[in-house]
Amino acid sequence: MNVSSVMSKLFEIKPELNFQTQHVKVPGKLYISGEYAILEPGHPAILIAVDQYLTSELSMSLKPYQGSISSDLPGMQTLNYRRHRETEAIKLILEEQSAGSISDWRYVLSAIEVVEDLIHEIGRPVQDYRLKFSSELASQEGKKYGFGSSGAVTVAAVRSLLQFYGLAAVSPVTIFKLATIALMRLESNGSFGDIAAITLGDWVYYQSFDREWLKARLSKETTILDLLLVEWPYLKLEHVPAVEDLSVLIGWTQSPASTDDLVAYLHQQMDQANTIAPYKAFLDQSQESVERMYQAFKAQEIPAIQEELANYRHLLLKLSKHFNLTIETPALSQLVNLSQAYQFEAKSSGAGGGDCGIAIGHKNQKSQLLIDQWQENGIQALNISVAPLQM
Ligand code: PMV
Ligand code: MG
Repeated sequence: MNVSSVMSKLFEIKPELNFQTQHVKVPGKLYISGEYAILEPGHPAILIAVDQYLTSELSMSLKPYQGSISSDLPGMQTLNYRRHRETEAIKLILEEQSAGSISDWRYVLSAIEVVEDLIHEIGRPVQDYRLKFSSELASQEGKKYGFGSSGAVTVAAVRSLLQFYGLAAVSPVTIFKLATIALMRLESNGSFGDIAAITLGDWVYYQSFDREWLKARLSKETTILDLLLVEWPYLKLEHVPAVEDLSVLIGWTQSPASTDDLVAYLHQQMDQANTIAPYKAFLDQSQESVERMYQAFKAQEIPAIQEELANYRHLLLKLSKHFNLTIETPALSQLVNLSQAYQFEAKSSGAGGGDCGIAIGHKNQKSQLLIDQWQENGIQALNISVAPLQM
């Protein structure tokens, strides 16, 4: 197959977008169910995209072979870069910068490299840009809610660069794959559930792919085009049908947590003896619970959705007890107990250890009373809704 027929399968070619200023808006994400188990290939999770956005503006650089990346995120320094003139190499040469600021921009730089590799593969010249981000994914004091800013900047960079080169992805899977390749090149240990949620939007069912397979492909220098064309083992990205009378409340416990630290700690604990059987049991039960929740969404049955939410909470509690992890902090336990008093079911969302909890109930239930109770107990109810379908 020649390059242009391959490209036309993946992208709509839109020359009118070429080198025009691009604005892109990427939502945040939250886990509903399946966290931790989703780290294993072939395991599922259900997530939502939330209507707090990271926006990016990409415009052509006025200086040849130079550009910049900047943002209003707290503590992020503007990065000025230069491109290698002689070789026209698409790798970026950074102007004297502190190592710190380069590492802050590693997701964006990796996303740029992946898209530019693609542009190179299809024989097009690369351009230089001014790329600016602005974010609602942290509180006004700069504290993170846990909505996933690293995934969001990666996806925003991928989408805005593609558009800048006049390429509109036919399927969100293409955006998912490009962002995931960028993160895998950085040896991310995440499941990419965040990328799944924010590229699809709304309610998402994600089954994680075999990362060892992708790692092996990347080390063999498979082309980006090949990786976009082939099916990735186990990968599934599906829309979960929304349930009209379902109410989702999000409570922030005001203590940010590090997902990377929690996941690293779990892996460290798993190296100890006698951990295989309980971990395997967790994985099996998790898979069954998420599948039952997915079926409950398809059947539009709120009580069954609530039951699985409570079920998954217990699976996480068992996991944390066995591996000595704090997933549900005292503040999150309180969030759950208060929710149950108002006929909502609730649990921690994502890695836990702080951040947000989610509560699910029926729209008829008195959510304002619950919100008031949360507030009285130091849990901030976030005025956030599920973000609409993306693309
Ligand atoms: O804390 P969050 O919302 O980023 O979720 C992390 C979920 C984990 O399964 C623990 C890790 C991952 O990458 O999926
Ligand atoms: Mg988190």
